Amino acid sequence: MKRKTINWIKSLKNKKKFSCLAAYTTSITKIIDRHIDVILVGDSVGTAIYGMKNTQGVTLDMMICHGKAVFNSSKNAFTIIDMPFNSYRNKKEALINAKKLLEFTKCQAVKLETDNNTIDIVKHLHDNNIIVISHIGVTPQKFKDFKKIRSVGNTFTEKKEIVDLAFKLEQAGTSIIVLECIKEKTAIEITNKIKIPTIGIGASLSCDGQILVVNDILDIENTSYKPRFIKTYTNIERIIDKAVKSYASEIVNKKFPKIKNTY
Ligand code: KIV
Repeated sequence: MKRKTINWIKSLKNKKKFSCLAAYTTSITKIIDRHIDVILVGDSVGTAIYGMKNTQGVTLDMMICHGKAVFNSSKNAFTIIDMPFNSYRNKKEALINAKKLLEFTKCQAVKLETDNNTIDIVKHLHDNNIIVISHIGVTPQKFKDFKKIRSVGNTFTEKKEIVDLAFKLEQAGTSIIVLECIKEKTAIEITNKIKIPTIGIGASLSCDGQILVVNDILDIENTSYKPRFIKTYTNIERIIDKAVKSYASEIVNKKFPKIKNTY
C-alpha cells in the first residue's frame, strides 16, 4: 500500500468516514498504521508521555523526535505533526518552525490551534506550499488546567463565530479542520458549509473523520478524570500490571531466568 495523501483524505468528503489517532512512539505506530488513515503526532505527547499537566511545555525538539519516530515507523497513514505552544506567534516564526518540523520529520502536514488572530498565519504557510490543518473549538494550548475545558458552540453568537472562523480558515487555504468539543448542531453546520474535511473529537458523528489519543483508547493510564469524548476499547494498564507482577514474582521465586533464557 502507498502512503495516503492529503488529496486522498479530501476525496473522502461526503463519501466515506476516516479514522485518525494521535500517537508518539515506534512500537504503537507500527500497530496502528495497519488500520488508521491519519496519524497525528500530537502535542498531547506532553501529557501522555512526559507527565506534564498541560501542553504548554512541549518544545519543537520534542515534536521533532516523536515526529521522526512516527513517520519512520509508518508506511500507510497520512502523517500530521502539531506545532507546539509559542512556535507560531507570527508569520515568520511559524514558517521557520513549520519548515523545520516537516524537513526533519518528513511528516506531511502541520497542525495549528487557530482562532481569528491566526488566520493570516494559516494563509502564509499555505502560500508557502505547506499543508496546514487547523484546530478550532477547544484549543488545549490555551489551558493550564484541562478540567476547566467546556464545550463550544452553545449560544447563537458562539455558533456563528465558530462557523465563520471555519469558513475563513478554508478560504485561507487550510486543508482539514479539527473540531474539538464543539456542539453537534454547530459541528453539523461547519461540516456541511465547508468543502474540506472536518475531524471531530467530542464533536459528534457528523464530522468526516474522528480522532482520539491512542493512550486513551487503550486505557494506558487509569485516571479518574476522563473527558466524555473518550471511549476505551481495552485496558492495557491492567494487562501490563499483570505481566510485570508475574515477572517480578518469578525473579523473587528464582523461576526466571530458565536454562532456555541463559547463555
Ligand atoms: O494533541 C493532540 O493529540 C490533539 C488531538 C487529539 C486533536 O490535538
